[in-house]
Amino acid sequence: MRTDTGRIVHLADYRPTDFVLERVDLTFELDPTETKVEARLIFHRREGVDPAAPLVLDGDDLTMTSLLFDQIEMDPARYTALPESLEIRDLPESTPFEITVVTMINPEANTQLMGLYRSNGIYCTQCEAEGFRRITYFPDRPDVLAVYTINIIADKAANPLLLSNGNFLGGAGFGPDKHFAAWFDPHPKPSYLFALVAGDLGVVEDTFTTMTGREVALKIYVEHGKEPRAAYAMDALKRSMKWDEEVFGREYDLDIFMIVAVSNFNMGAMENKGLNIFNDKYVLADPETATDQDYANIEAIIAHEYFHNWTGNRITCRDWFQLCLKEGLTVYRDHEFSADMRSRPVKRIAEVRHLRSEQFPEDSGPLAHPVRPTKYREINNFYTTTVYEKGSEVTRMIATILGRDGFKKGMDLYFERHDGDASTVEDFVKCFEDATGADLNQFALWYHQAGTPQVTVSSVYDAAASTLSLSLEQMLPATPGQPNKEPMHIPLRFALIGDNGAELDASIVTGGKVTADVLHLTERSQTFVFSGISSRPVVSLNRGFSAPITLHFEQSEADLAHIARHDSDHFARWQAITDSALPVLTKAARAAQAGEPVAVSASLVDILLTVAADEELEPAFRAQALALPSESDIARELGGDNDPDAIHVGREAVLVALAKAGASVFAALYDRHAVTGAFSPDAASAGRRALRNAALTFLSIAEGDPKRAAEAYAAANNMTDLSQALSVLAHRFPEAKETAATLQAFEARFADNPLVLDKWFAIQATIPGAQTLEHVRSLMASPHYAAGNPNRVRSLIGSLAFSNPTGFHRKDGAAYSFFADQILDIDPRNPQLAARLLTALRSWRMLESSRADKARQALVTIERGPNLSTDVRDIVDRILK
Ligand code: PHE
Ligand code: ZN
Repeated sequence: MRTDTGRIVHLADYRPTDFVLERVDLTFELDPTETKVEARLIFHRREGVDPAAPLVLDGDDLTMTSLLFDQIEMDPARYTALPESLEIRDLPESTPFEITVVTMINPEANTQLMGLYRSNGIYCTQCEAEGFRRITYFPDRPDVLAVYTINIIADKAANPLLLSNGNFLGGAGFGPDKHFAAWFDPHPKPSYLFALVAGDLGVVEDTFTTMTGREVALKIYVEHGKEPRAAYAMDALKRSMKWDEEVFGREYDLDIFMIVAVSNFNMGAMENKGLNIFNDKYVLADPETATDQDYANIEAIIAHEYFHNWTGNRITCRDWFQLCLKEGLTVYRDHEFSADMRSRPVKRIAEVRHLRSEQFPEDSGPLAHPVRPTKYREINNFYTTTVYEKGSEVTRMIATILGRDGFKKGMDLYFERHDGDASTVEDFVKCFEDATGADLNQFALWYHQAGTPQVTVSSVYDAAASTLSLSLEQMLPATPGQPNKEPMHIPLRFALIGDNGAELDASIVTGGKVTADVLHLTERSQTFVFSGISSRPVVSLNRGFSAPITLHFEQSEADLAHIARHDSDHFARWQAITDSALPVLTKAARAAQAGEPVAVSASLVDILLTVAADEELEPAFRAQALALPSESDIARELGGDNDPDAIHVGREAVLVALAKAGASVFAALYDRHAVTGAFSPDAASAGRRALRNAALTFLSIAEGDPKRAAEAYAAANNMTDLSQALSVLAHRFPEAKETAATLQAFEARFADNPLVLDKWFAIQATIPGAQTLEHVRSLMASPHYAAGNPNRVRSLIGSLAFSNPTGFHRKDGAAYSFFADQILDIDPRNPQLAARLLTALRSWRMLESSRADKARQALVTIERGPNLSTDVRDIVDRILK
């Protein structure tokens, strides 16, 4: 583990390397505890560089056993080898030279899952961002691109499979019980895209014929016996390849594309060139074990990693400050893919829900940072929802501002101009300017200014003059290191909706720029005046969530209901429903906090039940409407001094009122939307299951009886229905005998499937209330739990911390101290995992003071922990600051 050096990396300090790396040959002699890595690296000094400058290579925890210069053992006086660096002096002024480094590494002992490690007997690598330096000394930075030749030697019986990037060159036996394989990747790449896999795995094979008629072999490797569960991933891969050709004109560029599923992985998946490595949770699915959400995640992540082949691999990042260049853009691409595969508005609603619940809190708290940061202490901590999801929103806004054609021209130019480059955000933005003539100077502030813009709107209709005035004011809150902000270019899609639901012509306007249905807010405050408006319209603003902002627009219940009923943009309809619900829920929370009875507005109940029963609307949309704002959404809306118990009690009262008023509607939905016939994971069937399960929840609340959920559990023929029924039992009737029995039955039935047991852990860890902490403690002793496996830890401890407000924020602070102990326990094994978990406390200042005090104490306990990793040190310091 790297302990903290306090060193901060600044964007402003970027400069190219002194030496150019020409090529890389690596030979691995694999052994579980003593793997030998021989790296032959050819360099030459970059023109103009001081002839005395030494070559300094990165390392992390490395042990070197030999060093050759042009094949001859090097004089120890000429180098200094430390675990974290190798400096070599007296090197040629301009001629190329070869360095051969041998290091010994221990994959079995690698619990942080960075570099080369073993997961369930499979050797695999994870090198992004700075894991390659745990394999050998290297210029481990994304602007050093080279072609790699890889030789792998390993025990043949245990490792029939030897994989690396690029194309297979050949292989043969090697001594009595070993064999070797050689791979060559013709595409120059940075070290973070290197991958190696070895072991004994099953495979699913297929082919894809590209747009120019080349046949690509597709292989997905999974543990033996799990091959049938990779079929959906393969299908998603082929659809991704096709879609990228059709929509972005991007063709795959090697003869083979491989995916390997591993069970120990810190993140979702990794886009290594030609050899993606996945968390098995995002590959494996079948109806019995995967929910509709799992299928949707697999489709999205398979696409995401595949799309990186162009946005990330062919065009990579100059430095890690440019991370959004590949991640924001690739998330945008996978969002568009899923929108095309499924229901666009429902997908957009899910994205915005996710953005608001994850990114908005980050952007308004101590960890706020720009989409393109300018400094970091630990790069692992910048794989954030701001870089990924807000980065995607920024890309989406470019498309909104330039229109479909302008966006496409800019993307085409980007691919043409920067193929093979390690690029910057500035390079990217310039392509859109050059391709369209647009000026994106002000727009680019979205990359540089952190914080969620707050836009306050008011409208005045003047009947005599037939004008509508829309006054907008933007405010960008201060964030760490950025006290003052400039006004941003905020593109707001809008419509003026008439009495009959039709959109009015809004083309005659003064006070600012409007292009088609986009209003461009560019000043701190601006009044747009629309003329020729013959009757008072209802304004629908920020349709499709065209800008990632918070809108403050006091609209009457009647206007919101009008939008909810008539807007042709179904995202805007959902937003209007949410805007009707939020004030009711915040009022309920305040009443509960004051110990007063909670009143529920009849008009909210009316809107929700009307939408629920409207068979013209997609079931998935109706399910989204019925999933009221979450407890954390309400907390955010309240904005401080938050009492999670009061929020819960208030929200529950609203749910009960809705359930009782709508019992007959929900009963009808429950009967009507039973999905019959063979299981299909398609979006329409998934939507019906979502709606029916929402109905099940409300019916169970109305009836106050676990019977219906227990029956639903017994009748379920797929994991979505099964896990939903189990959730209703556990969350609504935690004490019922049906619940205990069903939890046990579930555990027994899926005892040999850790990914399914993750659902079992998560459902139990999210049971509301203070008592869940003890339950989580007892589950940690379960034989199914494994403190070294990131998926298990996230399902149990992560679910409690991130998704159980009343359980985690219990008043006595006991869950905070438990959490501190866990962070300190996990950190020495897996700092990345510990640091990510720790962000669950980032909004501690929003809590009422007694909880806030206790949360702070837990953070101080962590801060005082011995030998904290850089990862945890960085997060805890920023959260406490
Ligand atoms: N680059 C990966 C992705 O988003 C994420 C990742 C980052 C995986 C760092 C592992 C380590 O596709
Ligand atoms: Zn990515």
